[in-house]
This record gives sequence, structure tokens and C-alpha cells, in this order.
Amino acid sequence: MIGKLNHVAIAVPDLDAASRTYRDVLGAEVSAPQTIPAHGVTVVFVQLDNTKIELLHPFGETSPIKGFLEKNPNGGIHHICYEVADIVAAGQRMKAKGARVLGDGTPKIGAHGNPVLFLHPKDFNGALVELEQAS
Ligand code: CO
Repeated sequence: MIGKLNHVAIAVPDLDAASRTYRDVLGAEVSAPQTIPAHGVTVVFVQLDNTKIELLHPFGETSPIKGFLEKNPNGGIHHICYEVADIVAAGQRMKAKGARVLGDGTPKIGAHGNPVLFLHPKDFNGALVELEQAS
């Protein structure tokens, strides 16, 4: 069912420092920071040939990244995102297979304007999984 790896998201305590690391040390193309208030994050996109890396920094007091950085003060891999053709069918399949969908189970519009679901890390080897409907 899952298709391409859409992105790997890394929570970072210092967005400027992380951007410099990707640009100056790893030699990658990095975007300017973009704040997405609805998701409580400021994001820098690192564009690779075959996928993206998203450097996530908390925005606002209720940011979903805040608790993660408290537990992982140096930052860390926050989630991985796989593309699916049909997000509603994917959600139904997860329920049928006994995998937990976070929240109320209905797709929400994600950081790229496409509908997404998040799956419980305990059902996926400790990794938070995002499913995004490919555009
Ligand atoms: Co994501």
C-alpha cells in the first residue's frame, strides 16, 4: 500500500544551526524557514533528489514538537512520512489491521496541503508514521 518516502522529519532545538549543518556541512539545498501556525511548527525543507528532510522547530506553546524536544534536547528523528494513493482507504485499512490512528482517526490537512494521518509509534516499531495522500 505505501508508496514513496515523502519525507523524514527531524525535530531540532536550533533551526538556524540545523540549517547551517545541512547546507554547509552536508552540502544540501535548504529552504528559508516557513512557519505553519496551524501545525505549531517552523519548518526548513531540505530538498534531496529522491525525498525531503524536514527540520522541525516548535512554534507556540502548544506545539506538538515541544514535548519531544524536552525528552530529546539535542533533537532527533520525529517521524517518517510515506505516500499513499487514497488516505481514507489507508485509514480504513489501518483500523482493519488493528493499527492505531492518532487523534479522531479522520485525515487532517498536513504541512504540504495534502490530507494526512499519523499512526501510533507502538504499532510501528517505535517510529511515528505519517501517511500522506500523494498529490
Ligand atoms: Co511530516
